[in-house]
Amino acid sequence: MSLQEIKIFLKQKLSSKIDAVELSSLIGMLIEAVTGWNRMRQIVNVNTELTKEQQKQIEQYAEQLLVGKPIQYILAKAWFMGNEFMVNEHVLIPRPETEELVEWIISYASIMNKPLSILDLGTGSGCIPIALKLALPNCTLTGLDISKDALAVAQMNAKNLNVSIDWMEEDILNTAALDTSYDIMVSNPPYIPIREKKDMQEQVLNFEPLIALFVSNEDPLIYYRAIAKIGKQNLSKNGQLFFEIHYDQGKAILALLDELNYHAELRQDSFGKNRMIRASLK
Ligand SMILES: C[S@@+](CC[C@H](N)C(=O)[O-])C[C@H]1O[C@@H](n2cnc3c(N)ncnc32)[C@H](O)[C@@H]1O
Repeated sequence: MSLQEIKIFLKQKLSSKIDAVELSSLIGMLIEAVTGWNRMRQIVNVNTELTKEQQKQIEQYAEQLLVGKPIQYILAKAWFMGNEFMVNEHVLIPRPETEELVEWIISYASIMNKPLSILDLGTGSGCIPIALKLALPNCTLTGLDISKDALAVAQMNAKNLNVSIDWMEEDILNTAALDTSYDIMVSNPPYIPIREKKDMQEQVLNFEPLIALFVSNEDPLIYYRAIAKIGKQNLSKNGQLFFEIHYDQGKAILALLDELNYHAELRQDSFGKNRMIRASLK
């Protein structure tokens, strides 16, 4: 089959499942992954015959898209703050909202203008500490997660992107205090109440690690409370907490932080939704 014929085959196979604009972009990504041709070269090579192996690989990818597997897991990579991160079923696909949180920390750290020690709790792919280290090379970064498998991915990403980060296997919910103090503690913890599961896309539910997503309906702020308590022990003087939050939980988290003796500031993401909090002890 020529490249043109492959594109027609993919459109026919997937158009009932994926909308036209997204499909066109996904097809371009799959073809680039298999042939190494960027979009420009795909236009030039439109009549070029693909090898049998290339056709077979594209057919396998199409089958995975058909069952809803996110392209990032199919190609085992995702982009975050302009860098390529390896992802697999053990880690959440990094989200654009989280980039906005990282940008906030970078501007805060730049104003501080001194080397800071920063801990990311629930690090997953390691996207937060790695992006911070790339932007703030003088800072010391640590990533913590309960999942060994996630930490293995994070370590691989740090190696691929050539940064040095400390990694810690710990349970946020069973840690009263850590050994070191930090100038910044950041977290994008699990925050989706389990009752919202029924409204979520199958793509997320069937492929992303559930441990990264959900909290109980009864105590949805459990991670924020635990981290704010650790902060009381482990934030250095003028230390800051930075959180990503569920858009619906802003006021509740502000109240929780106030109760725990923190000043807090709520920020919206670029869609105007409450999405981030910065807090420091009163
Ligand atoms: C929403 S994901 C965030 C991943 C990454 N920081 C990001 O922003 O893409 C939450 C992470 O918290 C980790 N996690 C869940 N429960 C935990 C616990 N009790 N202690 C430590 N980490 C936990 C999960 O393994 C997952 O990697």
